[in-house]
Amino acid sequence: MIIGVPKEIKNNENRVALTPAGVAEFKKQGHTVYVQTNAGINSGFGDQSYIDAGASILPTIEAVYDIAEMIIKVKEPIASEYPLIKKDQLLFTYFHFASSEPLTHAMLERGAVCLAYETVEKADRSLPLLVPMSEVAGRMSIQEGAKYLEKPMKGKGILLGGVPGVPPANVVVLGGGIVGTQAARMAAGFGARVTIMDVSLPRLRYLSDVMPANVVTQMSNHYNICEAIKTADLVIGGVLIPGAKAPHLITRDMLKLMSPGTVVVDVAVDQGGCIETCKPTTHEDPTFIIDDIVHYCVANMPGAVPYTSTLALTNATLPYALQLANKGWRKACEENKELKLGLNVANGKVVYRGVAEAWDLPLHEVESVLAEEAVC
Ligand SMILES: NC(=O)c1ccc[n+]([C@@H]2O[C@H](COP(=O)([O-])OP(=O)(O)OC[C@H]3O[C@@H](n4cnc5c(N)ncnc54)[C@H](O)[C@@H]3O)[C@@H](O)[C@H]2O)c1
Repeated sequence: MIIGVPKEIKNNENRVALTPAGVAEFKKQGHTVYVQTNAGINSGFGDQSYIDAGASILPTIEAVYDIAEMIIKVKEPIASEYPLIKKDQLLFTYFHFASSEPLTHAMLERGAVCLAYETVEKADRSLPLLVPMSEVAGRMSIQEGAKYLEKPMKGKGILLGGVPGVPPANVVVLGGGIVGTQAARMAAGFGARVTIMDVSLPRLRYLSDVMPANVVTQMSNHYNICEAIKTADLVIGGVLIPGAKAPHLITRDMLKLMSPGTVVVDVAVDQGGCIETCKPTTHEDPTFIIDDIVHYCVANMPGAVPYTSTLALTNATLPYALQLANKGWRKACEENKELKLGLNVANGKVVYRGVAEAWDLPLHEVESVLAEEAVC
């Protein structure tokens, strides 16, 4: 198969969908890879490293879309890319169709085959192509939190780990899923006193077993959260209720329970945030202050560490991308239920319930679309 890797053009997107190591894998399995010039430069991979791995470099995004049977990307195509997409071209990337009606209609009209990273799903209902970004954001939340606790950054001026003779900072982590677990582990590594809260007792049992001694687990409820934030220096929001907005576990009123200079990092801001006063910010201007509390609410935290994020993402996507290239999307989806759940749009039809419901479009059976002959 001919694989194309365009340079991401969405604002501030520095990741790339394939590393030179990925190119080498595709080549080994008999495929041809074209990479747009400078596609990997912001993730630390220059054109020469792709050439050395066996890819050919193309000068423009148009040339990549024109030649490729499968496009591998990171973010959803933006409007200027829509006309470049060919009928029956396979696109493997994050789409988040339910948040963009124009994108959904454009992909239907172009006749693209859209396999969305975010809906590839394992039998245990986990989302293997979202996990790596939660891991990055969870770990990063602590280094950002530590930075904004510094006085010049408007924090209360406390060092997470303290020093001999001076107690460490108190870190409260709301949510004990992927983000929360990684955050708690990092904070513990810094030497902080960490409290991790979740509503799932089995999850708290697990965390209690695996976390180091400076992490305590606690049931998440209003009373316990009010008590915990009174002494917190850093609060991390990592709560998720699948398919719903994040619950506001810390309301505006509750900010006055916290001492001035406390930092809140609401990682869940992309789902509305679990701290009521959070609103999405960017890496250019990541924080704002309300009632003397420093709010960090960047909606795409992994974008600031593209080297790590690219490697983490491609480690997870490459095995699926190879199956698609080796078997073609129909056979790959027929043989792998995880991939089949990733199929959102094909042959001008919506085959994923959440997308059909979001935009009031007819939902087609995946099986019937898989059985159709290729349209071109
Ligand atoms: N800002 C970013 O750049 C970025 C990056 C990655 C992920 N995220 C977001 O971070 C959030 C967390 O993602 P995740 O992968 O850790 O999800 P996850 O499903 O692994 O974990 C969520 C946890 O929240 C717990 N929870 C639910 N209700 C709760 C409550 N009332 N109190 C305490 N815990 C509660 C669940 O039991 C679960 O353990 C999501 O909204 C995700 O989209 C943001």
